[in-house]
Amino acid sequence: MNRRDFLQQGAIGVASLILMPKSSWASASSSRAADSRIEVLFDEPLGIISPNIYGHFVENLSGVLYDGIWVGEKSPVPNISGLRKSLIDHMRKIKASVIRFPGGCFADSYDWRDGIGPADKRPRRTNFWAMGESEKAPASHRYDPNTVGTNEFVHFCKLIGAEPYLAANVRSLPASAFQQWVEYCNSPAGSTTLADVRAAAGYPEPFRVKYWGVGNESWGCGGEFTPQEYAVEFRRYSTWLPTYGDNLNLIASGPNTGEWSWTREFLEEVLRKGPGELRRIYGMALHHYAWNLSRGKTQEWEAGKGDATKFEPVDWYELLREGERMEGLVDGHWQVLSEFDPQHRVKLVVDEWGPWYRPGSEATPGDQIEQMPTMRDAVFSGMTLDIFNRNPEKVAMANCAQLINCLNSLYLAHEDKFVITPVGHVFELYLSHQGGQALRTVFSSPNLHYDRDGSPATFWGLRGSASVRDKNLTITAVNPSTNEPRLAEIALRGATFKEASMKFLSNADIHAHNTFDQRDAVIPQTKPVSVSPGALAVEFPPASVVALNIQLT
Ligand code: AHR
Repeated sequence: MNRRDFLQQGAIGVASLILMPKSSWASASSSRAADSRIEVLFDEPLGIISPNIYGHFVENLSGVLYDGIWVGEKSPVPNISGLRKSLIDHMRKIKASVIRFPGGCFADSYDWRDGIGPADKRPRRTNFWAMGESEKAPASHRYDPNTVGTNEFVHFCKLIGAEPYLAANVRSLPASAFQQWVEYCNSPAGSTTLADVRAAAGYPEPFRVKYWGVGNESWGCGGEFTPQEYAVEFRRYSTWLPTYGDNLNLIASGPNTGEWSWTREFLEEVLRKGPGELRRIYGMALHHYAWNLSRGKTQEWEAGKGDATKFEPVDWYELLREGERMEGLVDGHWQVLSEFDPQHRVKLVVDEWGPWYRPGSEATPGDQIEQMPTMRDAVFSGMTLDIFNRNPEKVAMANCAQLINCLNSLYLAHEDKFVITPVGHVFELYLSHQGGQALRTVFSSPNLHYDRDGSPATFWGLRGSASVRDKNLTITAVNPSTNEPRLAEIALRGATFKEASMKFLSNADIHAHNTFDQRDAVIPQTKPVSVSPGALAVEFPPASVVALNIQLT
């Protein structure tokens, strides 16, 4: 049977082949036929999934840095050199690959020189986000004490085993400051005055920072540049950066969502000096926030947002619709890149992604743009990571915005309280994709139907991604239906399986979330999956994120 025949055969009549997870789900539905199928095509490799797709973003914004990450060396909160230990422990567990810092918009107001040298001598500066802070906000959220600077951030990354990705200030510092930041981080021990300053702080060996952003959102808070103006700045800031034998991977500030013209006009202008200019660019940043839940009623930033925890099924689907635009954005910007770079040297770096709701659900009242991630955000995040996994040749890095006490956070923390959100658990479920060979995988499932303000609307029924490493196949998928399970037959084309296990996140309540008092409302559940030769089928609970680990023979 070829692939086409297999797909055409449909699901009818396969019930006798189906082996269910040993669970209540299995017994509840083992009598029915599969309604979906997942076909993994081993002879259609898509590329290696960069571990950096599983990257993070830390901005000096409200409770992200001070309180979230930094608790201080003398704090009663368990810490390693002042950095929250429980956070480091879990980030090690999920093999956090790369962390972007210090912004975001903050980056283009930040002078890295304020954050080096003895901590008690560092200046206090007005934070970019100060004007949005409440009167009661801790002073450190309004006036940056610079306690956490380059040394502390890089130390945080090293403790986790992640690569640092630093975003340079293009709006308000000269190019020389960028060059000297590279020199401070990367010049060999004893070689420069800045290397000596680094050594005096306890870091004689170079940090060897490989990833550098040249500004952030340069079309907006990063300087309100036109793409042409920014391209000129990009060339200037990227000319003669000292490399010390290591490649520097420079990431250009890219488009907001579907602004194809930014990508096109930026590249046009950069290349005006000749095709060789392309070598300067490792990646083009893309930012996409799913924020407009108004269902077409407004494009206004505040009015369009929805609530993080109080929502109807229609809002659930609307968020997923806004999130699944990511696949088209990746494809679209990739097409534009190919107009200038047919060899595709330049990759996409989605260094800010996630949902963005209106204020009101903060775990720590007063934390600016902090929100409470629910099961909806877990499904959104699984769906987004699957999109990246399906496009490994295009997406070189992605950074979920933001790590802790912010938008689509993996963690929430306040003083001695700490909790892993459903989003954090999704990163745990998807861990084994890192570095795997992505395989083209066909998901066939009936669409789901719902009412969208009086009009019938549909959304796909089951989607995901697959990758293989050695003899281990990982399939991850989300079932976006708020109320219907999916029963999927799984076919491996070009491999056979031996054993399978399943981890998943689901909850009967689509609003479920973890709080400081109830930390286990949404946690991964594990199910053994029985297999017999040639037959494997799995039930995907409603509103779930599922990871299957399949041992191949
Ligand atoms: O993540 C919050 C903000 O969103 C970032 O600072 C900025 O880059 C984006 O607009």
